[in-house]
Amino acid sequence: MIPQNLSNNGEADYLITGGWSKKAAAYAEHHTNVNIVSDSTENNFTNIAEMSTWNVNTESDYFFYCANETVHGVEIHEYLDVNTPLICDMSSTLCTRPIDVNNFDLIFAGAQKNLGIAGLTIVLARKDFIENQANHLTPIMRYDAHANDNSMLNTSPVFAWFVAGLVFEWIEEQGGLTKMADSNKAKSQLLYDYIDQSNLYQNPVSSKYRSWVNIPFTLSVNNLDDEFLTMANKSGLYNLKGHRTVGGMRASVYNSMPIEGVEKLISFMKEFENRQ
Ligand SMILES: Cc1ncc(COP(=O)(O)O)c(C=O)c1O
Repeated sequence: MIPQNLSNNGEADYLITGGWSKKAAAYAEHHTNVNIVSDSTENNFTNIAEMSTWNVNTESDYFFYCANETVHGVEIHEYLDVNTPLICDMSSTLCTRPIDVNNFDLIFAGAQKNLGIAGLTIVLARKDFIENQANHLTPIMRYDAHANDNSMLNTSPVFAWFVAGLVFEWIEEQGGLTKMADSNKAKSQLLYDYIDQSNLYQNPVSSKYRSWVNIPFTLSVNNLDDEFLTMANKSGLYNLKGHRTVGGMRASVYNSMPIEGVEKLISFMKEFENRQ
């Protein structure tokens, strides 16, 4: 929907830092001329080139990036300063910390990480950015049509909305977004610190861009992954298998994961390492 609604002049900038932004750029190519600002494919999405080296097009309709690459565990923690409208995929970022939305023209996030269940996508957009942008599209494909109808242009996924409402209440009860940020930072740091001093586990992402919520790691000994996963399951630690496109392991420590869960994972990892 982004390139269809918002690329009026037919040029759009995409920063590729992992699987999701790469996919977004490929999809956008159906609708506009995509300018790749920088592409981390060559370093296997472990680092992001310095901003001064980016090939930014100041005439672009917008600049698109993904704040947290869920599969590769690469996160851009600072706000980007670009001269074109800024669009961000915050599917695994929204509600993990306070965000100054004034830095953006459009933010979107699928709910299924930190906001509830699949079936709901939250879009936060500047009204003047989306208004009257895509008169050629049928209303259901237009951001302004959804906004003008208070997100009830078609039948709403009421259960997904309801669950998100409960999650927002839960976040407030926990102390709000600052508390979420502190907790996510602390949980991920604990795991990175353990991985970095270990001989068996590695996380290849440059420290500046390590994600607060998705921590991929690999084992330095071949053919141990299945055993690791089976033993982890037996210890009550589930869903540690990395995304099918990259393999290895991935610990996703979204808002709802307490620090005790990370501590339990680390103690299991230590035990597994000591047995090798
Ligand atoms: C950052 C990011 N963007 C986009 C998506 C795609 O979401 P959906 O499957 O709801 O289209 C995901 C899903 O995991 C994601 O993590």
